Amino acid sequence: MRESVLRALQETRCVSGQELGEKLRISRTAVWKYVNELRRLGYQIDSSPRRGYSLTRSADLLLPEEVGAGLETRFLGKRILHHAEVTSTQDIAEELARAGAEEGLVVIAEGQTRGRGRKGRGWESPAGGGVYLSIVLRPDLIPSLLIQIPLIAGVAVVRAVRQAAPLEPALNWPNNIIIGGRKAGGVLTEMSCEIDGVNYIVLGIGVNINTPMSLIPEPTRGIATSLAAECGRHVSRVKFVQKLLSEFETLYSEFLKSGFARIREEWKSANCTLGGRVRVTDGEDEIEGEALDIDREGFLLVRKENGDVRRIITGDVTLCA
Ligand code: BTN
Repeated sequence: MRESVLRALQETRCVSGQELGEKLRISRTAVWKYVNELRRLGYQIDSSPRRGYSLTRSADLLLPEEVGAGLETRFLGKRILHHAEVTSTQDIAEELARAGAEEGLVVIAEGQTRGRGRKGRGWESPAGGGVYLSIVLRPDLIPSLLIQIPLIAGVAVVRAVRQAAPLEPALNWPNNIIIGGRKAGGVLTEMSCEIDGVNYIVLGIGVNINTPMSLIPEPTRGIATSLAAECGRHVSRVKFVQKLLSEFETLYSEFLKSGFARIREEWKSANCTLGGRVRVTDGEDEIEGEALDIDREGFLLVRKENGDVRRIITGDVTLCA
C-alpha cells in the first residue's frame, strides 16, 4: 500500500487525504500513516489543510516501488527486497536462495557493514550513493560455463552506466568497471553447484554511483571513483538499477539461448586490458606479460616475456605503466 501512496503522490501535484483514501480504498488515517512512513524514509511531503499532500522531494532510495515503476524486465527484479543496511546483500540473497528463492530475486541495500569483494577482500559500502545488489540465478548449465556469468554482468554494467550518465566505462578482466583509470564497480559471483549442475548463483554487483569519495577510506580511495565524480553531476541510482536489471536480463537470456560468442566480442570492445602490458597476481603467484585475448570460455591469455602463453583462470590484473 505504501507503494500505491507513493505512486499516487508522484502522479499528482497535490492531493487531499480524503481523495487519496477514496482512490486507494483506505481511511484518511491510513493515508497519513503511509505518508509519515515515506517521510521517515526521507521523502519530503508537504501538507496543507487546503491543498492536501504534495511530494516535494524524492528520497533517492532504491525502494522496490521506485525501481519497479517502469522496470522493463520479464523475470529479473519482479521481487525486490530492499534494506537500509545489511552485512552483505550476498548473505541475504544466499540464505534465500538456499531456502528455494526464485530466479530473478534481487536484494538491494543502501549500505553494507561487511560488503564482500573478490578473493576474500572487503567492499567499501557506505550508505549514501552506492548501488549494492545481489541477484539469485538458477541457470540450467554445466558449472564450467559459469566463469562467463560475471563477464556478462560486466557488460551489463557498462551498458547501464552509458545510459545513466555521459560516461564511457571500460572493463578490466575479469569484471572491474573502470572509469577514468579508476575502479567504479565490481562483480562478485558466489554459487552452489554439483558436478553436473548448478543449484544457484548469487551474483553481486557493487557500483559507486554518487558515493562521496570522502566516505571511502584509504588505501581504496586512491584507486576508486564514482560515476558522479567522473561526470560532475548527480546520477539517478534508480535509473541505473533499472537499466542494469534490464540489460543483464537481455544478455543473460541471450547467453542461455545462443552462448557467449557475441557477448565475448562486446566484452572485448569495452575492455581496457587487451593489448596492454599487465601484471597478474594470484596469491604468491605473479606474472607479467602482454594481455592477448580472452578465449572462448572467458579466460585471459597472457604472453610472457619468454613467449609462453598462460591461460589465466583467476587473479587480479593491473595494467603496467
Ligand atoms: C570486486 O571485488 O570487484 C567485487 C565487488 C562486489 C561488491 C558487491 S556489492 C553487492 C554485493 N554484496 C557484497 O557484499 N558484495 C557484492
